[in-house]
Amino acid sequence: MSKSLIDSFGRKIEYVRLSVTDKCDLRCFYCLPKKFNDFEEPEHWLSYDEIVRVIGVFSDFGVKRVRITGGEPLVRKNLPELVSSLNRISGVEDLSLSTNAVKLAKHADALKQAGISRLNVSLDSLDPERFKSITGGKLEKVLDGLRAASKSGFSPIKINMVVMKGVNDDEVVDMVNFCIEHDFTLRFIETMPVGDTGRAAANHYISLDVIKRRLEKQFDLVPGVMPGGGPARYMRVVGTDLRIGFITPISRHFCESCNRVRLAVDGTLYLCLGQDDKVELRPLLRKGISDDELRDVILNAIARKPERHHFNDKPGQVVRFMSMTGG
Ligand code: GTP
Ligand code: 5AD
Ligand code: SF4
Repeated sequence: MSKSLIDSFGRKIEYVRLSVTDKCDLRCFYCLPKKFNDFEEPEHWLSYDEIVRVIGVFSDFGVKRVRITGGEPLVRKNLPELVSSLNRISGVEDLSLSTNAVKLAKHADALKQAGISRLNVSLDSLDPERFKSITGGKLEKVLDGLRAASKSGFSPIKINMVVMKGVNDDEVVDMVNFCIEHDFTLRFIETMPVGDTGRAAANHYISLDVIKRRLEKQFDLVPGVMPGGGPARYMRVVGTDLRIGFITPISRHFCESCNRVRLAVDGTLYLCLGQDDKVELRPLLRKGISDDELRDVILNAIARKPERHHFNDKPGQVVRFMSMTGG
């Protein structure tokens, strides 16, 4: 058993976010430009075997949680195969997926059987026209995906809503009622200035404190808890089972409790969502690096994990789109 991954600020890294593709079948305006097509070459994608090898080494270091992200992870072929292999790694106890749910109806059963235990689904509007203008896609497909996921027995299912002033902030109460009705967990997210798209969307930034105060006029909120390893702070709606998570990278960042790193589809290990610090693992893997050497590379990388993001004072810092690292 190797030692754990502790960074230079004393934070224990036990959560890897694994982006299996940078492609997406939607074009949320705050994430990817409409005409963007400059995706990573397939020969640069880590193969499933390469991914399993890297996650195996992370799990030797005590990483227990793996979240599969994209882009949109369900556009990568045969994803349940990868899920089964990751599920066989003994140290991995919590295998989860973040998806836009467009293709979920078709894959929900297979993903459940392969070992995904928790599912997070992006959903920014319940109005079909508005959903289309935000994402370019069809709301009905996402709702079909959610129905299939509930039927397959996923629990919890967390809905991620990026709340934007003048775009969808008038829908937060509808979203609360929708999640109560369907037994989903709801999370509100503040928009982040990641990539040109994210910076443009910053015009619509609204603090989740404002949203919380609005909700408190209609609902009784008390502190709550939810399984998961992410940055959301939860409140429970009294008289219901609903938990609402507030993800506040801008108004109240959570970097002091950060527990994660990100492995991109091309094998780049990003040490922070809000910084460019990275280590390219693909060339090393393809040159035949040994497991011992890979362990050293990962230890050295973690020692370089930045303390925090600077979205407020240096919003121009991160040029890559969110789709490259999966949020
Ligand atoms: P669980 O709590 O384990 O369910 O996962 P999670 O909330 O970390 O996963 P999810 O993919 O649903 O993340 C939701 C959103 O939170 C992401 O899309 C990002 O917008 C934001 N987020 C997640 N991790 C980080 C992080 O490390 N830093 C910042 N600034 N935002 C993050
Ligand atoms: N700000 C905040 N969250 C973002 N996401 C993508 N771009 C941004 C951004 N600029 C997150 C959303 C979405 C997930 C895939 O990535 O939470 O649900
Ligand atoms: Fe961690 Fe960086 Fe996200 Fe802060 S911005 S929580 S340090 S990954």
